[in-house]
Amino acid sequence: MSTPESQLDLDVVGFGNALVDVLSHQEDEFIDQIGSTKGAMNLIDAKRSAELYELIGERVTISGGSAANTVIGVNSLGGTSGYVGRVANDELGDVFTSDMSRLGIEHSTPRAPADDPTGRCIVFITPDGERTLHTFLGASNGLTSSDVDLELVARAKLLFLEGYLWDPPEAKVAMRYAASGVSEGARVALTLSDQFCVERHRTSFMALIDDHVDVLFANHHEVMSLFEVEQLDVALDRVQERVELAAITMGASGSVLITSGGRAMIPADPVARVVDKTGAGDLYASGVLYGLAQGYDLERCGQLGSLAAEEVIAHIGPRPEISLRDLAGELA
Ligand SMILES: Nc1ncnc2c1ncn2[C@@H]1O[C@H](COP(=O)(O)OP(=O)(O)OP(=O)(O)O)[C@@H](O)[C@H]1O
Ligand SMILES: [Mg+2]
Repeated sequence: MSTPESQLDLDVVGFGNALVDVLSHQEDEFIDQIGSTKGAMNLIDAKRSAELYELIGERVTISGGSAANTVIGVNSLGGTSGYVGRVANDELGDVFTSDMSRLGIEHSTPRAPADDPTGRCIVFITPDGERTLHTFLGASNGLTSSDVDLELVARAKLLFLEGYLWDPPEAKVAMRYAASGVSEGARVALTLSDQFCVERHRTSFMALIDDHVDVLFANHHEVMSLFEVEQLDVALDRVQERVELAAITMGASGSVLITSGGRAMIPADPVARVVDKTGAGDLYASGVLYGLAQGYDLERCGQLGSLAAEEVIAHIGPRPEISLRDLAGELA
């Protein structure tokens, strides 16, 4: 589709599983007892979701969803965004949609009937700040191409696809449909989201990357898993040949942005306080995408990513608590 550059009035359109997060602190033994993989995204059904919910004591409920967190970060930096993701016509769906509209995110995806409830993510935060996710996809699971607002997609400078959405089969088709609908001059970004998600879908992810992806986000585990290699250096060389830009995060070791023209190493703040890592990768992507949309250089994009990630890991929950624009000052 061809749209004049001036009509690309949204910096980012995010596309992902629309979820509400239920967060609580737990000990490592608890994660062992329930048989979950620590640090991973564990897919669960409605029954298991209800069982786990019963086990939680004190909790915090906040709208989440990986790509939704990212676009909210973009707006907090002063950018503009839209979102494609499916919630239900229920109470949690109301919470989600009113959050998006309050934060100025355009979200027009039709809602599912209430008997197909809004998805939720039960998050256990261990004392090291690591988060272990248990996701009941609910209504987000039923997203199809007919739910995708191509007019919204065509307004984006960057379409940001969430790898977690690669689990539901119909959503794969919808993501490719959206990626085919970006305007001339716009770019498609993908986050690999989770190491186990990469293991489940390595071949089809690779095909998606080759067909559509210009900008790839991944953490070090995910990028090594994608190329089935044991050394990060080897994975970085491979990814450099595959996409225009790769942004690879390495937790407390920071991140690296890679293009065919060179690499920018971005250190993480060594004194950053880690309370809850939920949203670190999501908010890192906010900073980089916002920077790319403004045409900033790699270094500045990476620094904005770090700054946004460091804000979100210093408190509970996956969304910034203060204006990232104020925090970033001249950098934004
Ligand atoms: N311990 C830390 N100290 C300082 N900064 C950190 C720390 N952990 C993460 N960060 C920042 O967050 C960015 C992304 O973190 P990370 O590599 O853990 O992403 P991720 O694995 O996708 O996280 P998640 O999926 O838990 O959101 C890092 O590049 C860094 O800027
Ligand atoms: Mg991540």
